[in-house]
Amino acid sequence: MDAADVGRDLEEVLLEAEDLDRRLGEMAAEIDADYADRDLLLVGVLKGAVMVMADLTRKLHTKVTMDWMAVSSYGSGTKSSGVVRILKDLDADIHGRHVLVVEDIVDSGLTLSWLLANLRSRGAASVEIAAMLRKPAAAKVDVDVRYVGFDIPNDFVVGYGLDFDELYRNLPFVAKLASRAYE
Ligand code: PRP
Repeated sequence: MDAADVGRDLEEVLLEAEDLDRRLGEMAAEIDADYADRDLLLVGVLKGAVMVMADLTRKLHTKVTMDWMAVSSYGSGTKSSGVVRILKDLDADIHGRHVLVVEDIVDSGLTLSWLLANLRSRGAASVEIAAMLRKPAAAKVDVDVRYVGFDIPNDFVVGYGLDFDELYRNLPFVAKLASRAYE
């Protein structure tokens, strides 16, 4: 899928596929250095993290295992309540393991803040976060994100895993959605 397939709903490409690829290479090198000789479990948070997980893991030299969680904000229908329910839990027991949560975006930070506490309560040896994107202006809680791809403005963005109404996750770049698309 490319920009022509989206047409007028896209306002501006913020990060090209090459930018994402280059930054992922840098993040993978940092992760390789930090986790050398350690047993590392990568936890992808469905669905947005699928692209990051696929591309990041293929750049790693460290041996890793992969698992997945699906979570959803509880109640109001909009996220940001901070109360999260687990739709799909991990298959793995993470007690004593080094866990790196892989996310497409940290927005308010509420999902990851909850997830960190949840995973730590299971007795993991360590729990860190790698996120491709972060919106500092949208933060409602401080989350310590160890590996960040890019800080971006507080716009509605799609692509590279991020959706609008479940669409556009398969764009290879990150773009700002035109307000006409969702207003
Ligand atoms: C996105 C993203 C994070 C969360 C971040 O997931 O993947 O999990 O929102 O938002 P927060 O920082 O405000 O909590 P979403 O709930 O849109 O589900 P998806 O990955 O299936 O698109």
